[in-house]
Parts: sequence; structure tokens; C-alpha cells
Amino acid sequence: MTSFITGLPKVELHLHIEGSLEPELMFALAERNKIAIPFNSPDEVRAAYQFHNLQSFLDIYYQGANVLIHEQDFYDLTWAYLLRCKADHVVHTEIFFDPQTHTERGIAFETVVNGIHRALEQGRKMLGISSQLIMCFLRHLDQESAFVTLNQALAHKDKIVGVGLDSSELGNPPEKFKAVFQQALAEGFLTVAHAGEEGPSENITHTLDLLGATRVDHGVRCVDDAVLVERLVQAQVPLTVCPLSNLKLKVFEDMKDHNIVDLLRKGLCVTINSDDPAYFGGYMTANFQAVADAHPMTQEEIAQFTLNAIQASFISVEEKQRLTRMTRDYLDNYQA
Ligand code: ADE
Ligand code: ZN
Repeated sequence: MTSFITGLPKVELHLHIEGSLEPELMFALAERNKIAIPFNSPDEVRAAYQFHNLQSFLDIYYQGANVLIHEQDFYDLTWAYLLRCKADHVVHTEIFFDPQTHTERGIAFETVVNGIHRALEQGRKMLGISSQLIMCFLRHLDQESAFVTLNQALAHKDKIVGVGLDSSELGNPPEKFKAVFQQALAEGFLTVAHAGEEGPSENITHTLDLLGATRVDHGVRCVDDAVLVERLVQAQVPLTVCPLSNLKLKVFEDMKDHNIVDLLRKGLCVTINSDDPAYFGGYMTANFQAVADAHPMTQEEIAQFTLNAIQASFISVEEKQRLTRMTRDYLDNYQA
């Protein structure tokens, strides 16, 4: 099954570009930019990645992003991630970035978006990987700050397909951001949001009803509400699930307890994603493998995660058809 999983075409829909900052690059950028970091080696950084919940991760994660200063830093970060994509047979990726993590430190919005975008364009040309960019609001900050960020994004509509919502879910429910999401929709952005990761299932319902979200990031707590599960099946609302992240942040104690395969078999449009792979111990292939190791599946079931992600992605109907054919051909050829 390992070689089947490695070669399977993959589509990633839940990846925080700041969460792909590997300790080696963190060190290189710290040196290049003369930023002090409280570690002596990349191994020491990795050893510090012991999390007991989402907040304990976020505290370290925002600190790590401090080494990102110049447009070239954001380019290098994104390019390194795209090389990982290539190795993992990721053919399309939809990437989150958190402008406020950087603008709050005095880095210009343009610096961030232009560096990421330049690498994505290079990835399209040199690696054949297509991509979209989604800007997330930090939900621990207030809605006013989100409005400022939305206004900064208006000059970059050609580079940003949608807006999302991330950071501390507990205490920061979707209703806090209803007005700014309505404004984003009016401006033509698609919307997504993290919900039902640590927070209650009603955050998922409110994300759909109040934020106009076309997909839900994580969403694994949906199982607490049978009516919601039925709604997600009927409407085929995609969930961008992140198995290794959920394990590291103790959303599930053991991969065997993870509900993703149950949800797949119930007919939900669930997908596999890496979230913050530099912090959680693996990119796309590792996430697929971890799920398959804990939950025996057929090759058709494993490929269904890719087929779901293609349907859930923000690409054209023609492109969805092309990637679907590519995935079905891979499955057929592998089984022949
Ligand atoms: N930001 C980066 N990773 C996140 C996660 N898993 N949940 C919420 N916010 C995040
Ligand atoms: Zn996330």
C-alpha cells in the first residue's frame, strides 16, 4: 500500500504556509535576517514541538514566523513547500496565509503576498503544480483588524481566491466575524473557516449559515450532531481533515480513534491534508499513510480522498475533470 499511496495524485486544501517552515529554514532565515531565536539547533527546535492542545502549538508557531521578513523569505518558504508537494505527487494545492501574523510585526501585506505568489507561479511553470491562495483572518484578534486586512487584500484580488478563519477556536466563534465575511462575499471572495477542530459542532453549523463557507476546515466534531452530519452528506460539504495535526494537538488521542474513515464510509466529502507539516511531522503522503496504517482501506477508498479533494477544490470544471481522469487512470493502471 505504501507505493500506491506515494504515487497517488494528491490535492491539498488545508495548508498554512507558515506551518511549512522547517527548523532548518527557520535557522537559515534567522541568521540571514539577524533575528534571535531561543534555540541552538534545528534538533532543539524539533524537540520543543510537544503540544497538548491547539493554543500550545499556536504560541510556538507565531514565534517561528518572526524570522520571515523580506519578500524573498516568503518566496523561499513557499518554494520549499512546493518541492515537498512534488515529492508527494501533489498536483494542486490551496494554501492559507495569515497576513496579520506579519502586518502586526510591521511587515507590509504586499511583501507577504508577492513573495508567496511569485513562488506559486514558479511552481506552476517549473513543477506543473497548480495552486490557489486563501487569506485567513486570525480569530483571536478583533473583527476590526479583519476588516483592515480585507481592505488590504482588495488590491490583490487577482492573487487571492478566498478568505478563511484560523487560530484559537475556543472563545472565538464564527459569529464574531459575520460582518467581515459578508463583506468578503460581496467583494467576490469564496469563504472557508476552521470549525469543529477543538470547538463545538455548532461552530460548523454557524460557519455554513453565517459565513457562507463552501468548505469547513477540520470539522471532525460534526459527529456530535446527527442532523449536521446528515446535512453535510446531503449537501456534500467538504471537510478538510488533517490527521497528523489532530493527533499532535490531541483532538484524537490515537490515530485508531480518528473518525475520518468512518466519515468517508458515511458518505461525507472528507479530504486528507497536512495543516502545518513542519510542526506535525509529515506532509501529504505521511498523512495518507498514517490514516491507512491505523484504518485498513481498499485502494478505491484511499483514492476517494483525492477524488473528494478535486471536487472540493476551487478550480474549473474542466480542470476537475482532468484531475479526476488522472486519478482514475492511476487507480486502474495500478490494479491492472
Ligand atoms: N493555524 C495554523 N494551524 C491551525 C490549526 N490547526 N487550527 C487553527 N489555526 C491554525
Ligand atoms: Zn489549519
